[in-house]
Amino acid sequence: MGMEEKLERLRSLREESLKGGGEDRIEAQHAKGKLSARERLDLLLDEDSFVELDRFVTHRTTAFGLEDKKILGDGVVTGYGSIHGRLVYVFSQDFTVFGGSLSEAHAEKIVKIQDLAMKNGAPVIGLNDSGGARIQEGVASLGGYADIFLRNTLASGVVPQVSLILGPCAGGAVYSPAITDFVYMVRGTSYMFVTGPNVVKTVTHEDVDMEGLGGADVHASTSGVAHFAHDSEPEALEAVRRLFHYVPQNNTETPPRGAAQDPPDRREESLAKLVPENPNRPYDMKDVIEAVVDDGEFYEIHAGFAQNILVGFAHLGGHSVGIVANQPNVLAGVLDIDSATKGARFVRFCDAFNIPLVVFEDVPGFLPGVSQEHGGIIRHGAKLLYAFSEATVPKVTVITRKAYGGAYDVMNSKHIRGDLNLAWPSAEIAVMGPKGAVEILFRKEIEEAEDPEAKTEELMEQYRERFAHPYIAASRGYLDDVIDPRETRPRLVNALDMLARKRDENPVRKHGNIPL
Ligand code: HXC
Repeated sequence: MGMEEKLERLRSLREESLKGGGEDRIEAQHAKGKLSARERLDLLLDEDSFVELDRFVTHRTTAFGLEDKKILGDGVVTGYGSIHGRLVYVFSQDFTVFGGSLSEAHAEKIVKIQDLAMKNGAPVIGLNDSGGARIQEGVASLGGYADIFLRNTLASGVVPQVSLILGPCAGGAVYSPAITDFVYMVRGTSYMFVTGPNVVKTVTHEDVDMEGLGGADVHASTSGVAHFAHDSEPEALEAVRRLFHYVPQNNTETPPRGAAQDPPDRREESLAKLVPENPNRPYDMKDVIEAVVDDGEFYEIHAGFAQNILVGFAHLGGHSVGIVANQPNVLAGVLDIDSATKGARFVRFCDAFNIPLVVFEDVPGFLPGVSQEHGGIIRHGAKLLYAFSEATVPKVTVITRKAYGGAYDVMNSKHIRGDLNLAWPSAEIAVMGPKGAVEILFRKEIEEAEDPEAKTEELMEQYRERFAHPYIAASRGYLDDVIDPRETRPRLVNALDMLARKRDENPVRKHGNIPL
């Protein structure tokens, strides 16, 4: 065969590999409101940056007549490309080929890019759209999954790992996304569950459809399995691109700087009047965050889940930061099981990837109740305490109002290595709120008073005067300064500049034992 013919053969094989399961199946995919595996990569990556690997890989199965049914690529498109000019590795499962199901060869392709990502210190983005283990391959497929899970685990904290769920993701297959750092889902077309509606019906007699069992909104608001729920695939893919404005390539690099021109010394007048006079009135902590960060841009994560705590990325004077903030607008900003685990996971991501932490604190304590206690608030609350305590990245706290009880310690206090702890004059730092405190300290006096309610009020007022300010904490050096709220942005930018070369270490050990 001459070179011309060889080139012709290559061209035709390449063309064949682009077709996946064929036009009809791609049409069917479109009809469901889904894009094809390659269309998705086009939207995710910088234009023309995708380089494909393993386009000629096929499965090796002979059972069930599959020896005659080989499709180039075997149901997953893999390779690398760039986002904002920086290298990322990708795999994109192709539902038009055996339902995107995972064969041994399909798994090997994913493993190959995971290994490359680890060697070259770049993120991995997985686009999941699969019927799960390729049934015809039996245990070889299960082994393939485990090979992927192992690498997900070893890559955790080394390179950022992102999962998009863009179709079914069921059974054990869910555990690869679950180990990755951020999970994006799309309403109406993506599902995650360990067992589907039919099995649920048989075992527990519960009637539930796919969306109700494991759709985007369920996971982004109730279970917390997903960090994002989007209305369309292009929206989800664009959101993943924006994530890469904040995260570094790997755990040895610093995160990218923001490009905003927002002046570092910008004072924000609105902050002086934001905290209501009445300490029981809520306000929106997002107003504080958006007033302070560069161009008001807050990349919120887990926006629909445990809304009593806010977590997400922003730039502050160009520094990429992870923000953790109590939200007085939801359950008074109290810490509970879900908010503690949400906060802890985010703090650990930031610490693993050298992203400084900025905390805005207004927390009345931990949520009381039988369901919280029985659900393990002790164990889960400890996660947030542990995460902040072990973090060695620059850590800055601003107490805007309440810092009560154990929650004061947990929310990045000085005692657990907060580098710079600031408070607004509206801060109240005490063991507990005034009502609870006087009812314990003065139970007898209140009972014996002519007007117990008036007595309680009077005692609460005395308590407030004594504790409802930041100056006792400041006098002990537990706060580094009390600041004018309008100066929050300049002070934070200055703090981040000051801490930019911070060095701190934890004791040498195999790993800690975070209470899970
Ligand atoms: C082989 C599969 C497949 C699978 C789908 N297909 N899933 N082939 N192994 N797991 C094939 C179908 O035979 C069909 O081929 C094509 O993909 C499209 O599937 P449809 O059923 O026509 O599509 P749809 O109606 O959209 O339904 C999608 C689906 C359904 C909900 C995903 O296919 C389904 O329930 N599949 C099985 C899911 C499952 O139980 N997987 C195993 C889970 S356990 P043709 O040629 O007819 O078009 C698991 C364990 C992982 O994954 C363990 C890790 C430790």
